[in-house]
Amino acid sequence: MSRIRGGLLVIFLTSILTPDLFSAYKIVGYSGSEELEECLKDSEIVVIPAGLPRKPGMTRDDLFNTNAEIVQSLAKACAKYCPTAKVAVITNPVNSTVPIVAEVFESAGVYDPRKIFGVCTLDTVRAKKFVADLKGVNATTLHVPVIGGHSGITILPLLSQITPKLSLSSEEICSLTERIQNAGTEVVNAKAGGGSATLSMAYAGALFTDALLRAGKGDPVVECAYVESNITEVKFFSSSLLLGPEGVTEHLGFGTLSAYEEDKLRALLPELDRNITKGLQFGKQ
Ligand code: 2OP
Repeated sequence: MSRIRGGLLVIFLTSILTPDLFSAYKIVGYSGSEELEECLKDSEIVVIPAGLPRKPGMTRDDLFNTNAEIVQSLAKACAKYCPTAKVAVITNPVNSTVPIVAEVFESAGVYDPRKIFGVCTLDTVRAKKFVADLKGVNATTLHVPVIGGHSGITILPLLSQITPKLSLSSEEICSLTERIQNAGTEVVNAKAGGGSATLSMAYAGALFTDALLRAGKGDPVVECAYVESNITEVKFFSSSLLLGPEGVTEHLGFGTLSAYEEDKLRALLPELDRNITKGLQFGKQ
């Protein structure tokens, strides 16, 4: 029988989203580094949410010093005990932690860029919700691609590509884009020192894990995620991906951008590149 291990909130939400899959699973908990081998051995999907959350006034990058080491040690364990697993990284700063995992896998000689993901699903969940609230439509009927990375200006919602098509004024596009980019910070400030988004992040993590499970069964699934990519000049980038049993099957790119989105893309690339370089350098240590 297949096993689901760790992360109770994600397990709970995934069980609601995919009850049919879950009826066939056994749920097991592990704790401590001494149980890592047994926890990870032969895993097909590993979701990494471990790490410190932000406090008001902090950027995701301010978490780097603490979380980089946590992710690096978990990535080393994954490279050793489940080198062919798909790894979905939630730990911030995602823009840097994904390059860390990639570098650790590369050093261990087991890197497959189709299988290492940064989870950006919360950005698409927020984009759909904010657009739906503004326009009085149902969020579940909307598709809003979000590209780039997962922090501040590196999050770029493509509001010109919403389907079904919706008309938005330039003021609405500007304020929606900024709200989506700062939504994580909005939660951090609202929690006033109590951490960052938890339930919505677990929901987004569960949605992405469910996408990997469905793709693993052979259903073609399209999702945005942050992966190694050559569709821009930076080494890691989030865009629409076709997922299959081995991970990324095809990078679907981001189509034609509006002039506003082109400007925003130009502005985000240098910051994303700095985040990536920082992660790659740390991962080499
Ligand atoms: C967020 O966007 C925690 O990065 C997470 O809220």
